[in-house]
Amino acid sequence: MRKPLMAGNWKMNKTVAEAVSVVKALKSSIADVTDVEVLICPTFTALYAVNNEVKGSNINIGAQNLFWEPKGAFTGEISPTMVKDTGCSYVLIGHSERRQYFNETDETVNKKTKAALVAGLIPVICIGETLKEREQNITFKVIEKQIKEGLAGLTPQQAETIVIAYEPVWAIGTGKTATPDQAQEVHAFTRKVYSQMYGDASQKVRILYGGSVNPTNVSDLMKQPDIDGGLVGGASLEAESFTKLVKYSK
Ligand code: PGA
Repeated sequence: MRKPLMAGNWKMNKTVAEAVSVVKALKSSIADVTDVEVLICPTFTALYAVNNEVKGSNINIGAQNLFWEPKGAFTGEISPTMVKDTGCSYVLIGHSERRQYFNETDETVNKKTKAALVAGLIPVICIGETLKEREQNITFKVIEKQIKEGLAGLTPQQAETIVIAYEPVWAIGTGKTATPDQAQEVHAFTRKVYSQMYGDASQKVRILYGGSVNPTNVSDLMKQPDIDGGLVGGASLEAESFTKLVKYSK
């Protein structure tokens, strides 16, 4: 059985004080949750403080990015060990905003994924097609390339521990969610491609859906057999709405 994972991607939002105040509220509102794993990904600057606040609770924290080199002259970058050192257990890799604005490619996603695993972090690897690609009917081709190149060369053990997040680019921050059927179709395809690469790990790997997930649409998405959780931007920023997502009705 795959345990559902509800992940909040805070993107470039919140000062340290704001971040701590939201996790403080969240800590008590979801304290009773045991059947869903919870992950919050604040900015780098808030990680340390947020970690102090969530220690001993059921909230995991993750970074939104890292660099693949262990240390050295890479001004402005953060190494996997540094991310781990702040208390993170997860790290987002290859979010579409990073691919779009910071030139990340499947090749850099692969390097970052392997470096994260070496440091003992669980990578959440983001994939997804743009609106143009969907309209050109090449969604599956795009997804297949992102999986095959971004996730190449993992050990069977690594292959089952990582998390994949399918986020159609046209659904991110637009209020336009993929329908549960549209999402399920790509999730099932993702699992199929993954099974060609890693066999049984495809049944264990968790595949999250992301793109305008909110308290109203979460239940129908989570009813789909291949959707194992959500990667949530906007609706994760406030404790009240994120609590509703973590406590979605089945
Ligand atoms: P959204 O963002 O929920 O605001 O659409 C999702 C994401 O980018 O991870």
